[in-house]
Amino acid sequence: MYVSLDRAAPVPLYLQLKDHLRRKIEEGILPPATRLPPTRELAAELGVNRITVVNAYAELEAEGLVTGQVGRGTFVSLPASLADQAGKSHPPADRYGWQTAFLVAGKVSANLMMRDMLSLANQPGIISFAMGSPAADLLPAQDFRQALNVVLRREGTRALQYDLPEGCGELRTALSAYLAKQAVPAAEDEIMITSGSQQAIHLVTEALLRPGDTVITESPTYLGAIDAFQAHGIHIAGIPVDGEGLQFPLLERLIRQHRPRMIYTIPTFHNPTGVTLSVERRHALIDLARKHDLLILEDATCNELRYEGRALPTLRSLDKDGHVVYAGSFSKTFLPGLRVGYLVASGHIFRRLLSAKQTDDLHTSPLLQLALAHYMANGQLAQHIQRMCAVYRERRDVMLEAMARFLPARTRWTIPHGGLCLWVTLDPPVPTTHLYLKAIEHGVAFALGSVFYPAGQSGSHFRLNFSAHSPETVREGVRRLGKTLKSMA
Ligand SMILES: Cc1ncc(COP(=O)(O)O)c(C=O)c1O
Repeated sequence: MYVSLDRAAPVPLYLQLKDHLRRKIEEGILPPATRLPPTRELAAELGVNRITVVNAYAELEAEGLVTGQVGRGTFVSLPASLADQAGKSHPPADRYGWQTAFLVAGKVSANLMMRDMLSLANQPGIISFAMGSPAADLLPAQDFRQALNVVLRREGTRALQYDLPEGCGELRTALSAYLAKQAVPAAEDEIMITSGSQQAIHLVTEALLRPGDTVITESPTYLGAIDAFQAHGIHIAGIPVDGEGLQFPLLERLIRQHRPRMIYTIPTFHNPTGVTLSVERRHALIDLARKHDLLILEDATCNELRYEGRALPTLRSLDKDGHVVYAGSFSKTFLPGLRVGYLVASGHIFRRLLSAKQTDDLHTSPLLQLALAHYMANGQLAQHIQRMCAVYRERRDVMLEAMARFLPARTRWTIPHGGLCLWVTLDPPVPTTHLYLKAIEHGVAFALGSVFYPAGQSGSHFRLNFSAHSPETVREGVRRLGKTLKSMA
């Protein structure tokens, strides 16, 4: 089957494939009762992941255009009257054909495979451990509404006006005090409010790196950072992690080999593995940065979500000469939908980041910043985080117990002291894409390990989020996962 898929387009591949098939059905090229090619065959033919094809078929089925028949395949089910109707509401995609000339030069590289995966995982009845989200049922929406009301009453239109790119003074003051309690040196004029820590990573990349530069990261690492670096034409040299974080002898070798400009690291509760960089390696990393004039981007997105052990010194606190830019967020500790995060940087770099922020989106919403500042000043944020840590600790422990009970004996996993995710390694190795699709059939989803590797290598790994669901749901999800794995043994 000939299908033209544009891998540079912002539209996920599964939607492109779905639209293509939908058109063929509407045009009668695929008449009712036609059997669509088996997902594995079509995926191989198109050179895409099987999840992409499964997802496209699922979307067509949700629209009533095809019907899946267990053991027989997927068949076109559209009556002609519906085809007319659908034709009216969905104009032929060719109308937009002229736009393709604009897609080739775009600096966009978001991993569409992740979107394909998430959309499959979001189907009703599936327990999804795929996202690194806080618990949806415990988001403090009510408290935040009150904070918004106070700000709107007190500040009036100031909260709704344009503001400075660095952010509102109130929030920067509150953050400076908040970070001081965590021993993170951050004067108010070294703090810039960003739209989530994702924007912080993007701004550092845009403002301080050039296409062709090399950045060293953990391998695996946070997917959004891989996307940001690749979108800017940055080479990524990945270093494996062990129980103490970045592996050191390799790091020195890679620095000599690649002459990188920056190291991007998530030293505490690393995403996706959950491991924490040891104190010795933290000191050694700062020494290396000094020795080689390297910038370090310390991603501290999950730092405050600690369930056991003592907090280790942040790289920022060990740095004396402005080598470390520190990125934090309110997404995991509070409300991801606010899109509020921050950067801490010293010296010339701060001003450069400021101009990148101004070019990017002028500033982050003052209304949200002021409400957050009010919430922090009242001590409510600290209380909320304390409550969440108790809840997430319990959920992590429930997941660990359930894994020991339901997963095959040789399966290994990390035991994170904080954060939202843990990392599973299968032994013997199992093709995880196949496992993913089987798991969806069994009503459970995870994040495929391969998407977190800068070089895209596969492996028998996946990431599980333990914070988003109640303990009962966590237990049931892991039981389903165990059943899936046993069905493939
Ligand atoms: C390590 C890490 N950094 C940054 C982010 C981006 O977070 P946000 O932009 O929501 O603050 C995430 C989100 O999952 C993350 O896990």
